[in-house]
This record gives sequence, structure tokens and C-alpha cells, in this order.
Amino acid sequence: MRIDIITCLPKLLDSFFGHSIVKRAQEKRIAEVVVHDLRDYTLFKHRQVDDYSYGGSAGMVLMVEPIDRCITALKAERGYDAVIYMTPDGKTFDQQTANRFSLFKNIIILCGHYKGVDERARQAFITHEISIGDYVLSGGELAAAIVSDALIRLIPGVLSDETSALTDSFQDSLLAPAVYTRPADYNGMIVPEILLSGNEKEIEKWRFENALQRTKERRPDLYDKFVRGNDPDVK
Ligand code: 6GU
Repeated sequence: MRIDIITCLPKLLDSFFGHSIVKRAQEKRIAEVVVHDLRDYTLFKHRQVDDYSYGGSAGMVLMVEPIDRCITALKAERGYDAVIYMTPDGKTFDQQTANRFSLFKNIIILCGHYKGVDERARQAFITHEISIGDYVLSGGELAAAIVSDALIRLIPGVLSDETSALTDSFQDSLLAPAVYTRPADYNGMIVPEILLSGNEKEIEKWRFENALQRTKERRPDLYDKFVRGNDPDVK
């Protein structure tokens, strides 16, 4: 997978992609993340990429031309499966979307800033508009990093234990069960005995029950969906 990220704050992303699981994926040549500075694509003096919004509402808007020039230059090099715009008015990102996007080979992610981007850039180039939740960030960069991490860790070979992405919270619409490591007794707080028993079938059963219980307590909305999805008599 190759992810091209377009931003006017490239330095904000360097540290993230220079560390973390994403760095390992890049070293193994399983994934590649390339950050592009939108300012390299403007024809204006002083590397200007934003301007006042027509009609006079508060805040600056990213201009369509540098976005056009950057995306057009990228598309001349290779085909893209998706051109994603990070925006709080997009569709809320979830694990299902991550699973779907992780099958893509080449994607572009455009980060909005200030009051957003010229609507014509969205209409002309964007195939998917994605938000990471119902709150407002000052730019799309952190959201783009989150989406990239969620996609890259799903690619086979990125995680050391390949099954571990399959047992994530949300992957079967339940939260993940509690986990423990040594010591078995820490100041009287003990690990559930079943987990020390070596009985794989019983351990699997305990994990499922624990996941079910946690989901019921913490995310009744997910729990209801799960129960309904598994009972053909419930609509
Ligand atoms: Cl993708 N961008 C911004 N600026 N704010 C957000 C967001 C994205 N998702 C939630 N809030």
C-alpha cells in the first residue's frame, strides 16, 4: 500500500511516520507513506495556499489550484483507488471502513486546514470524505495519521502476530477481552485462574464471555447490535 498525504504542515506528520508500527511497515516495504507539502504546488508568491472565503465568513480557505496541481502530478505517476479528504463533516471512520480501505493499493489523503478547502476541490477530486469523530480539530493531519495507522496495521505481515488484528476490539463488533501478563499475583490482585489452566477451549470461552460482558457494560449500543446480528428471531 502507498499512501500520499497532502498537507500544508508536513513537519507535523514526520515524527509520527518516523516511529510507530508504520515505520516498521515502511522498513519491511509493505507500506509506504509519502508526505507532500501543499506549498510546493502553489504558483503564488510567498508560497501562499489559502485565501479569504468569498462572502466574507470568518477564516481562511485552502485554494483549489495547488490541490489540483498536487493531485494531478500524483495521478500522472500512478492510478489511485481513493482520494480521501479529512473533514469533520465527512462520514465517521470505523473499523469496517478501515477493513475496506486496507485492501486499496494506492490512496491520496488530503488534509484540510483553517476553514476547509474550496468546495470545487472536493467536487472535482475527492472520492471519500472522512471524519474521525464528532469534535473539531484544527487540521486534518492528526486524523490522517490515525486513518493511516488503522489501515497499515491491517496489512498482512505488518503485525508480528498476524492473528492479533483479527482479535482487536470491534473486529467482530465486540470490545476485546481483558488481558494479563506476569506476575500471576500482584499484591493480592490475581489473574483469573482459567487463563493459567492451559485449557485452550475454556480460555476461549472465558475470553468470549468477558468480551460480551465488557461490551454490555461499556457499549450497550454495540452489544445490542451484536445480539441482534446473532439471533435470527430478533429484528
Ligand atoms: Cl478529519 N478534520 C478536522 N479538522 N477535524 C476533525 C476531523 C477531521 N475529524 C473529526 N474532527
